[in-house]
Amino acid sequence: MAKAGARRRTEPRAEAVRTGSAGEAAASEAVDFGFRKVARGDKARLVREVFDSVARRYDAMNDLMSLGLHRRWKEALVDALDPREPLLVLDVAGGTADVARRVLARAPAGSRVTVCDINAAMLAEGRDRSADRGRIAGLDYVCGDAEALPLADRSVDAVTVAFGLRNMTDIPRALAEMRRVLRPGGRFFCLEFSRLALPGLERAYDWWSFEVLPEIGARVARDREAYVYLAESIRKFPDQERLLALMQAAGFERTGYDNLAGGIVAIHQGWRI
Ligand SMILES: C[S@@+](CC[C@H](N)C(=O)[O-])C[C@H]1O[C@@H](n2cnc3c(N)ncnc32)[C@H](O)[C@@H]1O
Repeated sequence: MAKAGARRRTEPRAEAVRTGSAGEAAASEAVDFGFRKVARGDKARLVREVFDSVARRYDAMNDLMSLGLHRRWKEALVDALDPREPLLVLDVAGGTADVARRVLARAPAGSRVTVCDINAAMLAEGRDRSADRGRIAGLDYVCGDAEALPLADRSVDAVTVAFGLRNMTDIPRALAEMRRVLRPGGRFFCLEFSRLALPGLERAYDWWSFEVLPEIGARVARDREAYVYLAESIRKFPDQERLLALMQAAGFERTGYDNLAGGIVAIHQGWRI
């Protein structure tokens, strides 16, 4: 398990990262993993270890950590998608398929949602949960990396990504991939933690993030460090405007965002024209 906890709320101190031949330079370049700096080539493995560790308790943890609000946030994502006609949807970093099931529950018959996640344990949980809820038709599961999506160009009507983008090593590349698989006229929606826009709440939010969440993680998911990583990765993720700029740089048009819960999370959206 990655040890991410020792330096919470401090800015990253560059750690020695693996150095190698010129060919390995990109892989050894330092990137953020929470507040730590790790070699670019190591981040995906560290993220995978986090979700391997918490997969079984992931949904229960979401309820506890967000006091149930993640359900409303995900419903708001489906509101934004507003599926009125049969759609082919790709849910990137779809984990336990929570968003995918919500989309299918509200989309017209004939819709399909492909859940793509890099983590087989999360997908396995998703399949089990979907089967338990009798939701099998219309769902497909693909184990794959958002930075090299295993889908054809222009093959889906909409792409959703909920609480996933933050974990990716190369966000511009993941955004470009999500645009690549959208058909012209297709829409992209990202639900992600963002920057608190309500003054006066910072201290309470910091306390919740850095004191309470790791404690809940330790007791319920039996992994404190995974939830230290969660809090730190939120702070390192681009704020509302920076993410908007990254989406525009990736080629999305008619972009915008809405804050939820005072900016604790935001839904960004854009079109492939
Ligand atoms: C916080 S969970 C979110 C799961 C789900 N979208 C939800 O909202 O409940 C983040 C997910 O991102 C996945 N993930 C991280 N990096 C990824 C990558 N490069 N490609 C695909 N999935 C990735 C993880 O395996 C994990 O399932």
